[in-house]
Amino acid sequence: MNNESIFKTFGVATGVCVVCAIIVSFSSVALKGLQDQNKLLDKQVNVLKAAGLVPTDGKATKAEVAEKFKTAEIVVVDLATGAVVADADPNKVESDKTNVVALTPEQDVAKIKTAPKQAVVYRFNDETGALKTLVLPISGTGLWSRMNGFLSLNADLTTVAGLVFYEHGETPGLGGEISNPKWTAKWNGKTAVDETGAPVVKVVKGTATDAATEVDGISGATLTCNGVNGTIDFWLGPNGYGPYLKTLRGDAPATEAEAPAEASEASEN
Ligand SMILES: Cc1cc2nc3c(=O)[nH]c(=O)nc-3n(C[C@H](O)[C@H](O)[C@H](O)COP(=O)(O)O)c2cc1C
Repeated sequence: MNNESIFKTFGVATGVCVVCAIIVSFSSVALKGLQDQNKLLDKQVNVLKAAGLVPTDGKATKAEVAEKFKTAEIVVVDLATGAVVADADPNKVESDKTNVVALTPEQDVAKIKTAPKQAVVYRFNDETGALKTLVLPISGTGLWSRMNGFLSLNADLTTVAGLVFYEHGETPGLGGEISNPKWTAKWNGKTAVDETGAPVVKVVKGTATDAATEVDGISGATLTCNGVNGTIDFWLGPNGYGPYLKTLRGDAPATEAEAPAEASEASEN
C-alpha cells in the first residue's frame, strides 16, 4: 500500500494499539498472582513492624517475614460488641463489601464515613498463649489523603508498642513524615488510653510537654497530625476497638450471646 495512504497510517496506528493492548492485558493477568503476593508480603511486613518484630527502618527478607508472621494469631472481631467471631474467615471479612457500617458525623472523628462491622486484628502471644502484642489496623483522613496503618499495644492494652503508616498521600517532607520511623518511634511506650479505656495519646503542636501521653508534632504538618489524632481517637474509641479492648481486659462479656447488651452500653458511653 502507498506510504502516503491515510488507510495505511490508520492501519499501522491501529495495529500498534492492538499489539500494545494485548501485551498490557497479558502482563496484567500474568502478573496478578505476583502482585497479590507482594501486597500480602507488604501487609505482613507492616504488621510485624508495628509489633516491633522487624526493624521499622530496615528491610526484612521474605523468609524472615514468613517465619515471624507465622507466629501471628489472626482474629476476627465484631467491633460493636467486642466479641471474637470464631468461625469467620479473615480473607472473606476483608473483601466483603457488605462488611461496613455508616458513621454519623459525631462518630466519624477519623473522617472515614464508614467503618467495618468486623475487623481483622493480629495477636502475638507468648509460649503460654498470653498476649504479648496486639496489632490493630487503623485508617483515617489526613490533609490530602486516606492514611492506612497499624497501631500496636503492649500486653497491658494501655501502652503503645508501635505505630506504622504504610499508605498515604500526604506531602513528602511535611505530612508525609508520619511514615518516617524516627517520628513513629516517638509513639512507643506512650499511654494510649486512660483507666476508663478512653484514648488519651495525641500529637501536639510543637514539643510534647506530657511525656506519658503526648507526641511531638511535625512542623508544617499540623493538619495531617490532626488527622492522626482523629484516627487514633476513632480506633481506640467506642466505635473502633474500644469494646474489644474492654473484652480483652476482662471487664466485658466475652461471649457473643451476652455481647449485644455490652454493645448498647458502649454506644451510650
Ligand atoms: C504544597 C503544600 C503542601 C502541604 N502539605 C501538607 C501536608 O501534607 N500536611 C499538612 O499538615 N500540611 C501541609 N501543608 C501545610 C498546611 O497548609 C498548613 O500550613 C500546615 O498544616 C500548618 O502546620 P504548622 O502549624 O505546623 O505550620 C502544605 C502546604 C503546601 C503549600
